[in-house]
Amino acid sequence: MRAYEVIRRKRDGQVLPAQAIAELVADYTQGRVPDYQMAAFCMAVFFRGLSEAELNELTAAMLHSGDVLDLSDVPGVKVDKHSTGGVGDKVSLALAPLAAACGVKVPMVSGRGLGHTGGTLDKLEAIPGFRVDLPVARFREILASTGACLIGQTVRIAPADRKLYALRDLTATVESIPLIAASILSKKLAEGIDALVLDVKVGSGAFMKGSGEARRLAETIASIGRGMGKKVSAFLTDMDQPLGRAVGNALEVKEAVDLLRDEGPKDLREVTVELTAEMLVLGRVAADRDEARRRVLAAIGDGRGFLKLCEIAEAQGGDPDALADPSLLPRAAVTRPVLSEEAGVVQALDAEAIGLAAMALGAGRSRLEDRVDPAAGLVVHKKVGDPVERREPLATLHLGEVTLEPPDTVEMRVRGAYQIGRELVPPEPLVRERLDGGGGT
Ligand code: URA
Repeated sequence: MRAYEVIRRKRDGQVLPAQAIAELVADYTQGRVPDYQMAAFCMAVFFRGLSEAELNELTAAMLHSGDVLDLSDVPGVKVDKHSTGGVGDKVSLALAPLAAACGVKVPMVSGRGLGHTGGTLDKLEAIPGFRVDLPVARFREILASTGACLIGQTVRIAPADRKLYALRDLTATVESIPLIAASILSKKLAEGIDALVLDVKVGSGAFMKGSGEARRLAETIASIGRGMGKKVSAFLTDMDQPLGRAVGNALEVKEAVDLLRDEGPKDLREVTVELTAEMLVLGRVAADRDEARRRVLAAIGDGRGFLKLCEIAEAQGGDPDALADPSLLPRAAVTRPVLSEEAGVVQALDAEAIGLAAMALGAGRSRLEDRVDPAAGLVVHKKVGDPVERREPLATLHLGEVTLEPPDTVEMRVRGAYQIGRELVPPEPLVRERLDGGGGT
């Protein structure tokens, strides 16, 4: 079927035959369908949606647009985690070594930060020497020997998604649940995984601002994944305020190390333990979630998770001494506190505003080709529910070598992210919902 006909039918709300979707994706990937036609198709999907069969076909076509890794020669169940992105979300840095230390194989292909959200690759690259651009053969070797390997999406993994995501970004068609679901799953399934834990962030700093749409995305991804023979569990977790206290690449590495040394913020620990425990259940190394949680906590308590992170980092060229002594990580030459102008209790802390402030300090990028400064970012000292005195530090800015905005402006942004009042604020649950992936309770 010609691209014009596919677009017309979708525009009119008709269901497309599988073959038409497969051809459209293949032709687009190979440059036989131009961007303007694919953009029109995406807009038609945005308004009309896709049936379950159409969505399965789109995901399969995008998945098979490039290489699909076959990791069947690596013993063990292969489980990955995907987060839809947030502010201060350094969970992967602790979760991958913890899951590996507990016997799960974790082939992780991650992304870079964009806009106010951070990316795991940028955080890993804050560890001196750490390489995320390894060839597939080395990825396989490190996965087999250490239990985890964390790399970036190669040009051969889901090339249709690469092209399509860039196009959607320019044509206001990112916010479509079927298109997001196909995009995420096509990349993740290309890693050769058996199971996936999905962390859909919900709140002001997340892509999905409300629980309803977040749940729909989680259910959609889980259902396509299961249709393709994979176990998929999904969590909806809070992103109304940053996770943990550190936002910025080296600062977040340090906080993940703190967690693995049985220190670090409670909220980060809770989310990391929950998601890692789910990986243990899906990976069949724990019988149920209670046992899984106990095992993850033990790997934190006895330092096995930390040693595993050092082992993975070393295998990927990173300097384990910088993990043992985080003062060897990149550090900002200039820091400055942001003082509170009033006394009270923190009522709200806008995660998106904090993410944008970190970006303005040099920690993030507005375009994929921008460079990030590993030392830049900020640490929030006060979070929702915390009491604060007048002139007490709310946060500390770590200035990059080049900041996108003058420090005074960033300071105002950070102060503006805080809402301070008189009410006591009871803590909200961090894990808002869990959708079972077949691993039990
Ligand atoms: N993340 C992705 O990988 N794809 C999307 O479409 C949106 C978020």
